[in-house]
Amino acid sequence: MDWIDGGSVMQSIRGQNLLSLSELSKEAIVEVLDIAESFVEVNQRTIKKVPALKGKVVASLFFEESTRTRLSFETAAKRLSADVLSLAIASSSVKKGESLRDTIATVDALGIDAVILRHASSGAAEQVSRYVPHVRVINAGDGQHQHPTQGLLDAFTIRQTLAARRGLNSSETGAELFVGLKILIVGDIRHSRVARSDIAAYRSLGAEVMVAGPPTLLPQSVAQWGVTHAENFEEALRWADVVGLLRLQRERGTGSFVPTLNEYTATYGLTEERAALLKPEALVMHPGPMNRGIEIDSKVADGPQAIIERQVSNGVPVRMAVLYLSMAGLGGSK
Ligand code: CP
Repeated sequence: MDWIDGGSVMQSIRGQNLLSLSELSKEAIVEVLDIAESFVEVNQRTIKKVPALKGKVVASLFFEESTRTRLSFETAAKRLSADVLSLAIASSSVKKGESLRDTIATVDALGIDAVILRHASSGAAEQVSRYVPHVRVINAGDGQHQHPTQGLLDAFTIRQTLAARRGLNSSETGAELFVGLKILIVGDIRHSRVARSDIAAYRSLGAEVMVAGPPTLLPQSVAQWGVTHAENFEEALRWADVVGLLRLQRERGTGSFVPTLNEYTATYGLTEERAALLKPEALVMHPGPMNRGIEIDSKVADGPQAIIERQVSNGVPVRMAVLYLSMAGLGGSK
């Protein structure tokens, strides 16, 4: 990868920060997926709540926009009975120029046990973990670096879908359904923290990963990521068991890396014609938000092979599992 994450591989996130999937072993990832499976049932109850984090305080700090990640993290924390401090950055003292360090120190002074952080700066979550070493830090997306819970929920959704097709209990399958699975990731790999987290998770679990996209949207270091690069996009679509589309991130200047959006769609969009090349059982994924009509046609996004809504729903049990494990062993709040 093009980032240096922690040198050692973590065998579990129990009692640990979650900053990057590149730091996690296969066992650590499978542990999250298995615990998430047990939280699916909680989310189907009439009263969707367990007391696991009662008395704990979780700060939700989103310095960048979010719909799915923020709502599902805050829902997850509440379903575990934690109290949630949700800072509206746009109307906070950040707008008066307060630094990240002072903002974190201020929130910490209110008495928190964990921080969920999204920030435009790559490495921000790791920096916060040094400011407040007594608080668990969960990275909810830092710049172009990592979006670990997206990688976990994507892996969870693939495993759940494949297990259900085969009539298996997914938590009894470990990582076996990933071994040899062919996963194609398409689009703006260069700017995508989702791609970096997905690739780390899928490779760790045993899948074969290929990337496709315009050369300008592939990082120079991609050859060192343990993935192959599709020479022919149409052939790659025929090859794949799972296709993950990425959003063209116009806020990170992606528009200047492709001549026009129409040309991008003409060469790498998952149009209806291209979707017809997929295996009938292939899965189509997108982390959202989607640029409908650009990286994916609306009919494909809403079609029978798409599991995009399931990805969103699974955000809650997966983030419950991450909070539950990461906050394990914490003493009382200050
Ligand atoms: N997939 C994702 O991170 O979406 P949001 O930006 O809406 O949280």
